Amino acid sequence: MDKLIIKGGSPLKGEIEISGAKNAALPVIAASLLTSGECIINRVPDLRDIKTMGRLLKNMGAEFHYESNKAIVRTDRIKNLEAPYDLVKEMRASVLVLGPMVARFGRARVSLPGGCAIGARPINLHLMGLEKMGAKIELEAGYVIATAKRLKGSTIYFDISTVTGTENIMMAATLAKGVTVIENAAREPEVVDLANALISIGAKIKGAGGSVIEIEGVDELKPIRHTVIPDRIETGTFMTMAGITGGDIIIKGCMLEHLHAFMTKIEEAGTKIEEADSGVRITGPARPNAVDIETAPYPGFPTDMQAQFMALMTIAQGTSIITETIFENRFMHVAELIRMGADISFKGSTAAVKGIKQLKGANVMATDLRASASLIVAALRAEGMTTIHRLYHLDRGYEKIEEKLNRLGVFVKREKR
Ligand code: EPU
Repeated sequence: MDKLIIKGGSPLKGEIEISGAKNAALPVIAASLLTSGECIINRVPDLRDIKTMGRLLKNMGAEFHYESNKAIVRTDRIKNLEAPYDLVKEMRASVLVLGPMVARFGRARVSLPGGCAIGARPINLHLMGLEKMGAKIELEAGYVIATAKRLKGSTIYFDISTVTGTENIMMAATLAKGVTVIENAAREPEVVDLANALISIGAKIKGAGGSVIEIEGVDELKPIRHTVIPDRIETGTFMTMAGITGGDIIIKGCMLEHLHAFMTKIEEAGTKIEEADSGVRITGPARPNAVDIETAPYPGFPTDMQAQFMALMTIAQGTSIITETIFENRFMHVAELIRMGADISFKGSTAAVKGIKQLKGANVMATDLRASASLIVAALRAEGMTTIHRLYHLDRGYEKIEEKLNRLGVFVKREKR
């Protein structure tokens, strides 16, 4: 398994460009199952998760080509309506093919994703939604089998706001008979991006971005032509990296309107964010202020930025209280940050991070995607070298990370195994 060696201590300087959002690209690629004809999706980041989605579609009989951030998908020869265990266990977002498959082909057999490093993450709400739309749901040998002649519109209330659940039901509803209303829908920008992609191919969707989404089913959709939104989590991660090193960087191609809650907190911590001619300029303080955060569904503070923000708080002046409300086990990075000298204690879903003056480089282990990013954030400020092991998590979600860090003046080296 690859590892990453980072030399800490120098402020980030320079310019980088933000990539397309992984969590927006994945559902739009899955949506190509709703239509025959050639779908062209632009600004798709070059990531392991995208390749996994490509393998999943090919395994079903689709054509999938990926080059220079463009994905070209054809789903007119689908013969195998299945998402097998091997691919779902690699990437939970594989479950995004469930809604489109039942809607267009009347059947789907999808391996149930098990728990993962950040929590149990069930898909009961996805299944409840499809059942309410008339699908028959059966569980067999770890697989969920959903069948329906044609899905019917229904009112679906999610008692927990679920991002991929909302996306799955929204996609399924585009080809259902009648009107579907999703109540307590997820409001994340990635849901809105998917809705925009679907609307542009003929879907009738109102209200995406709010908590009630109404979808009127149509008989057919046209092939997709879509450009994915920039990655707000990658943007926030680089802002945090500039913040922790007292850096001065320009971030190009990002959408600040997707980062409001996060920006409020990082600004409170002392990082300046200004619009500049060539992009957004981020300047970090000598040492951040301690700020409390609590994760929440969008537009709240994103759980996908919690680990990185915690890394920033390890060297803050004062104590920061960090509360994770979305996933029950998303503090796996704490033990690794402690290996670098951080003073963190936690009970249940709340952590107290007492800022120290200086982190020290160490051997650390990445446990999930955003935990890996938090270890890079910490490594950039640590004295000496940090070696991050189990790098494959990072490659699931950060495009050209070494190249971008190099451009910002960081000494970073990947050792392949
Ligand atoms: N939940 C249920 N039942 C369900 C669905 C969700 O109980 O049927 C619970 C989950 O266990 C969790 C909460 O609802 O406690 C919210 O989970 P959600 O369904 O919103 O998460 P997700 O759709 O599986 C997406 C992102 C995650 C991100 C979360 C929260 C994609 C592909 N993944 O996951 O991204 O953390 O929303 O914003 O969009 C990442 O990129 O590192 C990542 C984990």
